[in-house]
Amino acid sequence: MGRIGTQRLAPQSRIASRQSGNDRMKSALLKVIDTDVSGMAAGDFSSWLGDNKRHVEKILLEQGAVLFRGTEIRSHEGFEQVCRSMSPDLRRYVGGGSPRSHLGGNIYTSTEYSARVPIPLHCEATYFPNPPDRIWFYCHRTAESGGETPIGNMARFAEVLDTRIVDRFREEGVLYVMNLSGGDGFGKSWMQVYECADQNKIEATLISQGAGFTWTDDGGLRVELRAPAIAPHPETGVEVWLSQAVNWHPAHLGPGHYERLLKLYGGESQFPKIAFYGDGAPIGADDITYLTGMQAAREVVFTWRQGDILLLDNSRIAHGRRPFIGDRAIYVGMA
Ligand SMILES: [Fe+2]
Repeated sequence: MGRIGTQRLAPQSRIASRQSGNDRMKSALLKVIDTDVSGMAAGDFSSWLGDNKRHVEKILLEQGAVLFRGTEIRSHEGFEQVCRSMSPDLRRYVGGGSPRSHLGGNIYTSTEYSARVPIPLHCEATYFPNPPDRIWFYCHRTAESGGETPIGNMARFAEVLDTRIVDRFREEGVLYVMNLSGGDGFGKSWMQVYECADQNKIEATLISQGAGFTWTDDGGLRVELRAPAIAPHPETGVEVWLSQAVNWHPAHLGPGHYERLLKLYGGESQFPKIAFYGDGAPIGADDITYLTGMQAAREVVFTWRQGDILLLDNSRIAHGRRPFIGDRAIYVGMA
């Protein structure tokens, strides 16, 4: 019925209908706080957050995302001060699967994948046994065009998916594999990922993260992380889709890209980054394409302004990135 109804709409009505659907999802998810914090530099804004912490936490529980707009934050140091006023245990991004630059303190750039490709929705670092509860973003410089950070609620997402896929993910979880170079090969090196060149220290980190690992003959490091695809929200108990299988599987970039990688590496298991079902079975490019589309349908979008700070409940609100042109700079803190 829904499909027939949509076909009867005139094109402009269809666009209006999609926009109002997006607006409805956005207002349910995202609370914009502007007048209260407008013109505040890091010191005043941190004090405001300290005084209003309970209010902000309540919004995170009810809606999941807060956008602070109109601040005078202009540096990663100021951003870190703000984050720590609510999230004193800001953490390092050691062993994470995305290319980032460490800016100082515990602040990083957002993922530095090619500006031309979209990054699908994902809750951050859910391949670790203890993912961050909170993720903070700060817009240091807007893109010339594009570069939005779509967000989406992953609570109850599994309920709308094909049960054939969900049951398998629920039972097996996800196996995330990174093949890291020793500095000369493709992709990220293990020195970059672990911010360290000491193999003993890296092994201690890997063990603390519950990772399997192998030092390879060509000087590289293979890392395997198993994690649940679906887990209850720590505060509400509602099931949340935490799988990053889409992001870790190159089929989300289209069949041409996936086929090229297969030719280059000879098999999925050798890709720099790849996801399998938890038992090691391949997920299949068609199912990744299906999941990519279903996740994209949950995206709600806002346009960044300089000084914006976005705070998400990472235990259920996923984020992504739209392609962009320009010198976009979004910084990240996790706690
Ligand atoms: Fe991310």
